[in-house]
Amino acid sequence: MDRQFHPRTDVSGLFVSFEGIDGSGKSTQARMLADQLRAEGRTVVLTREPGGSDGAEEIRNLVLNGDPDRWSAETEILLFTAARRDHMERTIGPALDAGHVVICDRFADSTRMYQGLSRGDLRALVDTLHGLMIGREPDLTVLIDMDPETGLSRALGREGIDTRFEGFGLDLQQRMRAGFLALAAEAPERFRVIDGNRPVETVAKDVSTVIADALT
Ligand code: ADP
Ligand code: TYD
Repeated sequence: MDRQFHPRTDVSGLFVSFEGIDGSGKSTQARMLADQLRAEGRTVVLTREPGGSDGAEEIRNLVLNGDPDRWSAETEILLFTAARRDHMERTIGPALDAGHVVICDRFADSTRMYQGLSRGDLRALVDTLHGLMIGREPDLTVLIDMDPETGLSRALGREGIDTRFEGFGLDLQQRMRAGFLALAAEAPERFRVIDGNRPVETVAKDVSTVIADALT
């Protein structure tokens, strides 16, 4: 495979990422969209970050578990980017080359936010490393925008929430929400912002409309 992942124009693959704060409903919506597109006869690869390939899942365990101070912000950027590189090489790249729809629960925008914003201003480092090692963005990024208090209570109501990141609390959620909205404003051609403070089915309808537009 190429060292870089150039967007392809000769196949019908579509790369969609879901972004948003913890508990905004990304995983729920990503799953529903995958089910819907499969029911319409499309081949869909539903995946997530960190993870999505064997090696990247191993890195996920390193990065999400343990002491919050286990890694410096810089080391975290390297680990998340290493996981993403493996995920691109082994899962996302081949699926797009085959013309499939790839739905990814979080992608590089999460690194731009969580590592680039939360512990000092490391955004430039994230972008430089992304340019060197990943070299492509999703075709479409669905940002599920969410009131941070509701997001946090939803995330805390879920099983298995004792990750290094979800312990960071409401203040971080508020900064992440603002950061995601700013990112969406930076790249309006790629982002679609959807209000997540509504019933699951209502949110899903908007997601479906946005994706249908991209697939026609
Ligand atoms: P994320 O992947 O963004 O962290 P999830 O999809 O895992 O969010 O949702 C977090 C929790 O909130 C889950 O228990 C899920 O069932 C619930 N949930 C998701 N979307 C909604 C919604 N629109 N309204 C109410 N609860 C929701
Ligand atoms: P996960 O359990 O998948 O949570 P969620 O359902 O909210 O997506 O854990 C992912 C955590 O990893 C989440 O708190 C955000 C964090 N993360 C980063 O800090 N940087 C990244 O690049 C990615 C992809 C995730």
